[in-house]
Amino acid sequence: MHPLFPRTTQLAQDWIAQVLRHGDVAIDATLGNGNDALFLARCVGPSGKVHGFDVQAAALVASSALFQANQISENNYTWHLLSHGAMQDVVAPPVRAVMFNLGYLPGEDHDVITQSTETLRALDAACSLIEPGGIITIVCYPGHEGGDSETAEVLAWADKQGAVWHVVVYEKRATLRKAPILIAMQKKGADT
Ligand SMILES: C[S@@+](CC[C@H](N)C(=O)[O-])C[C@H]1O[C@@H](n2cnc3c(N)ncnc32)[C@H](O)[C@@H]1O
Repeated sequence: MHPLFPRTTQLAQDWIAQVLRHGDVAIDATLGNGNDALFLARCVGPSGKVHGFDVQAAALVASSALFQANQISENNYTWHLLSHGAMQDVVAPPVRAVMFNLGYLPGEDHDVITQSTETLRALDAACSLIEPGGIITIVCYPGHEGGDSETAEVLAWADKQGAVWHVVVYEKRATLRKAPILIAMQKKGADT
């Protein structure tokens, strides 16, 4: 990793760590193997709560194993075998952070990838749940099938959020392959 310009997934965590506090509620919208969710659980601590969403049962199983291995209490997390588009049906506001890491789960079924329409529905839901000062991070993967158009649609969606959100995009340029893109948004509020 370049010392000054971290990976998108690392930078997403760095920014979220500055916003999340003990006792907060956070959402991993694309649970996968649970690595981001574990990071969120450490940020919100034993008085906080993490909700994880994935459409693959294997992701929930892997994440539960990771959480047990790291001695995170079951009181501090809930997994939902549901599309992230449904997050508003099962999580109440206020939420402080929502992470999206789009694409497919390495090692699992590469046909199960995030779909733009549902991703945009989930982003709108996340916007409704988040409190002022809260943060959304989205790592997009142009370069794989469906990834180019999904990235373009998410960027176009993010460009329309400026009235309510501070929006930034982080992207390495001049790389051999298309690099992942990080979009981060903090909801405007009294202090931001
Ligand atoms: C790149 S992986 C996430 C990696 C994960 N954040 C981690 O730390 O291991 C993307 C995940 O999104 C999941 N996914 C695809 N469509 C989804 C949807 N509609 N709702 C929730 N998760 C979805 C895939 O099953 C896959 O596990």
